Amino acid sequence: MKPSTVLYKDASVPVEIRIDDLLSRMTTHEKVMQLNQYTLGNNNNENNVGEVAGELPAELGSVIYYNDNPDLRNAYQRRCMEESRLGIPCIFGYDMIHGFRTIYPISLGQACSWNVPLVERMTSYAAAEGRMSGIDWTFSPMIDVARDPRWGRVSEGYGEDPYANAAFCAATVRGYQGKSLADSTTIAACLKHYVAYGASEAGRDYVYTEVSPQTLWDTYLPPYKAGVDAGALTLMSSFNDISGIPGSANYYTLTEILKNRWKHKGFVVSDWGSIEQLVNQGNAADKKEAGLRAFNSGLEMDMMSHAYDKYLEELIDEGKVDSVLLDESVRRVLRVKMLLGLFEKPYTGNHPDRFMRPDALSAARQLAAESMVLLKNDSTGILPLDGVGRIAVIGPVAKSSASLQGSWNGRGVYDETVTLYQGILDRFAPEAEIRFAKGSDLDKTTEVELAQAVDTACWADVVILCLGEERRWSGENASRSTIALPEAQLQLAEKIAATGKPVVMLLSSGRPLDLSQMEPLANAIIEVWQPGTAGGAAAADILSGDVNPSGKLAMTFPRSTGQIPIYYNRRGSARRHQGFYQDIPSTPLYPFGHGLSYTTFAYGEPSVSSSTFRKGEKVTVTVPVTNTGSRAGAEAVLWFISDPAASITRPLMELKHFEKRELKPGETTTFKFVIDPMKHLSFPDADGNIILEPGDFKIIVGPHTVNIVME
Ligand code: BGC
Repeated sequence: MKPSTVLYKDASVPVEIRIDDLLSRMTTHEKVMQLNQYTLGNNNNENNVGEVAGELPAELGSVIYYNDNPDLRNAYQRRCMEESRLGIPCIFGYDMIHGFRTIYPISLGQACSWNVPLVERMTSYAAAEGRMSGIDWTFSPMIDVARDPRWGRVSEGYGEDPYANAAFCAATVRGYQGKSLADSTTIAACLKHYVAYGASEAGRDYVYTEVSPQTLWDTYLPPYKAGVDAGALTLMSSFNDISGIPGSANYYTLTEILKNRWKHKGFVVSDWGSIEQLVNQGNAADKKEAGLRAFNSGLEMDMMSHAYDKYLEELIDEGKVDSVLLDESVRRVLRVKMLLGLFEKPYTGNHPDRFMRPDALSAARQLAAESMVLLKNDSTGILPLDGVGRIAVIGPVAKSSASLQGSWNGRGVYDETVTLYQGILDRFAPEAEIRFAKGSDLDKTTEVELAQAVDTACWADVVILCLGEERRWSGENASRSTIALPEAQLQLAEKIAATGKPVVMLLSSGRPLDLSQMEPLANAIIEVWQPGTAGGAAAADILSGDVNPSGKLAMTFPRSTGQIPIYYNRRGSARRHQGFYQDIPSTPLYPFGHGLSYTTFAYGEPSVSSSTFRKGEKVTVTVPVTNTGSRAGAEAVLWFISDPAASITRPLMELKHFEKRELKPGETTTFKFVIDPMKHLSFPDADGNIILEPGDFKIIVGPHTVNIVME
């Protein structure tokens, strides 16, 4: 039969009919092979040992493609297309988390920008670099709400708030997937890690999570719902045991919620080895039983457990797996491949100029600058730097490009990264004289290094002290028992502060830090996160005032590790005036939403369209915000609601809306929140039913609270 006469290869035929046709031709073995993912190319994740390319079967559903070489992709794809009986294309997945070759700030930093359109644009540039390199599918966004900064993976998500995670999730899905997935510049998104992986006990990775059904619905599911609604084609099941039923064998989350209620049409891939790990978790006696549990729960693709390729056919023969479910699962995988246009365009073209394009680089710089948070700028007014003659750049992070790239740095190239030192040099020299001293390594120092740093500081008018974390101190399998920086860096900061010179601290980290001891040692502190390729240039933009800082924290900075978990949207205590720590204040050092500017903003009295309303009516609250300083600046206005008396208790405050806008000096602009009661004032019960109760609500914006009543 000529290819043109084969129904499933005919792009003019509706997708579901093409899939019917293809399924009718497939053997059970061919179907099962579509549900497996192996690896191709070299891997840089120490836990994930890849397989040898070339030995892969031609019938495989997917590979994790550890490369950026379209030729390698095309060679294996040719095998699938030409050497498998039915010529089904493979889908190539990759961990493109915050960029591919152009590296953007880590997701936690991105969230602090509160700039949703910019994040959407950035992900579209990342998608283009990836797709033109042979990637069809990224394992991103990670939307695990996280409230324990000891957990290294807080760097990969959008912070502690469900609504912020949901908003950035939807933006990244739109950015990655674009208008059509068949374009040569868009890729399929994957929401991960479904679900509640961020609830890791004591911040340790891969461990058991204790998640009540109420918390599942309140905190962990909303970002996933937003991603599914935005059209995300795939999800990744999580490693964690969710109160006794692991995420990779959880019928309630994988089938009941995702497929039955949310009507998701794509597929779920396991996390790496998470099916076979059901044995370690005590949910299966062996790999075969693990495969059975995972598959029957609604997990379609096996990433590197070799449970499905090995046992699924046997389980079907034994009648333990239903062939209808097999067909349904394969249909989901084929559907994604068809939507990506892989049957029509299986190969990647040659795009030599795909990396680091000007629009991508400028977005990287803008997003890096907007993600940086000015935590402190004391009355000495050291920032922005103005007319400074001698600048000492000191610290172990100053010349480290690795620290700036973060743990998932895709195919990022260190030499293409602007270090903090380079950024400062480019911006301030030759008007200012700039000297460097390392002062310490990240976790050790010597008397000689310290003395050199002190000498350099004494020479200078201002010290830019670049401290922080190594790139692998956060990310996967990178928990820390304390979130304070190592003693060596504290020692360095103390010596520098003792010189009496003005100190600006630049902190590069993948998590909130305990800065209680560091904070008094600096006049100004900027959290630059792991800002990516343009990090140093963006930091210089902020130091110089070329860009007015506008970042606000999407995750609380505790005073000490002992306060963890500490997050803004907690529920009320039985005795609000008691129950505090005896040894330290119970408040955080820098709360959620904290972030300074070089200008000042005043929030005027809010107005409400109607302070009493009925269930079906919308209410509009507006607030005038004035830039009362002398510099232009952007303000992110965060709107919270509070439901002080509910049949199921609610957090004291819940973010429900935000918007960021530029204001000229002296300009007043009105920000608006249109409240749709069903959307903004309701809450889920422990099974996800939506409850909307009449009564009093408070709308909180800046320093103001507005009372409204639903009759
Ligand atoms: C991580 C995932 C990642 C996968 C593939 C796992 O170890 O948890 O986030 O997508 O590896 O590299």
